[in-house]
Amino acid sequence: MAVMNYRGEEMRNLSVDGARLWKSLMDMAEIGATPKGGSRRLALSDSDRQGRDLFVRWCREAGCSIRVDRMGNIFARRPGKDESRPPVMMGSHLDTQPSGGKFDGVYGVLAGLEVIRTLNDHGYESDSPVELAVWTNEEGARFAPSMIGSGVFAGTYSIEKGLACADVDGTTIGEELRRIGYAGDDPCGGRPIRAFFEAHIEQGPILEAEGKTIGVVTGAQGLRWYDVTVGGMDSHAGTTPMDRRRDAMAGAARMLVAAERIGKTTPGAVTTVGMLRVVPSSRNVVPGEVFFTVDARHPDGDTLAAMDAALRGSFAEIAQQADLKLAIETVTDTAPVVFDEGCVDAVRQAAEGSGYPCRDIVSGAGHDACFINEVAPTAMIFVPCKDGISHNEIESAAPDDLTAGCNVLLRVVLTAAEW
Ligand code: GLV
Ligand code: MN
Ligand code: MN
Repeated sequence: MAVMNYRGEEMRNLSVDGARLWKSLMDMAEIGATPKGGSRRLALSDSDRQGRDLFVRWCREAGCSIRVDRMGNIFARRPGKDESRPPVMMGSHLDTQPSGGKFDGVYGVLAGLEVIRTLNDHGYESDSPVELAVWTNEEGARFAPSMIGSGVFAGTYSIEKGLACADVDGTTIGEELRRIGYAGDDPCGGRPIRAFFEAHIEQGPILEAEGKTIGVVTGAQGLRWYDVTVGGMDSHAGTTPMDRRRDAMAGAARMLVAAERIGKTTPGAVTTVGMLRVVPSSRNVVPGEVFFTVDARHPDGDTLAAMDAALRGSFAEIAQQADLKLAIETVTDTAPVVFDEGCVDAVRQAAEGSGYPCRDIVSGAGHDACFINEVAPTAMIFVPCKDGISHNEIESAAPDDLTAGCNVLLRVVLTAAEW
């Protein structure tokens, strides 16, 4: 069936304004801009608040109503012809890594805004309402676990757990939401969504290497995060003989190497130690305590479970040999995700129908879509990023590719709004 606007014009081949999308991305990137061209907007920091405020202003100017839920997730709504229908939702996140890029998350949000602006330009009234979400604390860089706003929305985490998440200084999400003015009243989740679509840069090298413009994301690999604390004994660096030390740092170093080996020797796996804290951190004290994190991922749940066992086994053996204490806490355990077949097909058809070279792809990164998939039919649209680099200030993507992904988002939303 043809999709028409109120003037009776065919809307199926409608296109977004790529230059407007690019300008919005560049304007948002100025908030928390970093020296090498990236952005630093840690979740619920002052710069995150500024980014949220700008987003809300733009959405209001585009005629949307705004609601904020108890986790600080923001929903901009463009009404549909039939307001009793559940919304078709787009969205992603505006928070960044400490030295993040301009596109991770932000693209999915501002591509959604560009879709709404385009619908406005053409006076198109969708059957279903269209909503655009900004999810709180996707990155997990300031508050672990990651994707907490969408995780509470989907019922994976309780609201109490979400609001109580604390950063390294002990400041909680609940406190920071109140401080920056985004502690909303709406219940978090528990309402129907007809379909959810998240556009995102790939954050890996596959699309670029194969010359594809669109990744049709069929799912995402599983992810586990661990907090590891190794306990030894502080002692004098000059006077403690080597055979009498309980050196937490030396033990942790062997654990780091073991984690890397497990990642390297398990086909398709990745493992990362991204945070390390040494106590008391003095050059002439044998360290008595070391804290580090492990991020382990694999597309297959059984293999991820085997990696879990291998990590725990090798850490325990190292601790035992060196007379060290060991505590391992699992902070995140997200199973591999398979997106909804109907939504994935709709993305594939929109990409192919637009003439964009595309391929199916499994996401290496975690995304809010992974949680929303639990409560609504969901899929994602990937576009290439330069050299596959992300979580880096130099993260970059080509304007034409960003426009193409946004066109696919527009077309898939137009389709789903009729479902
Ligand atoms: C999200 O950025 C992730 O860690 O995959
Ligand atoms: Mn992201
Ligand atoms: Mn990220």
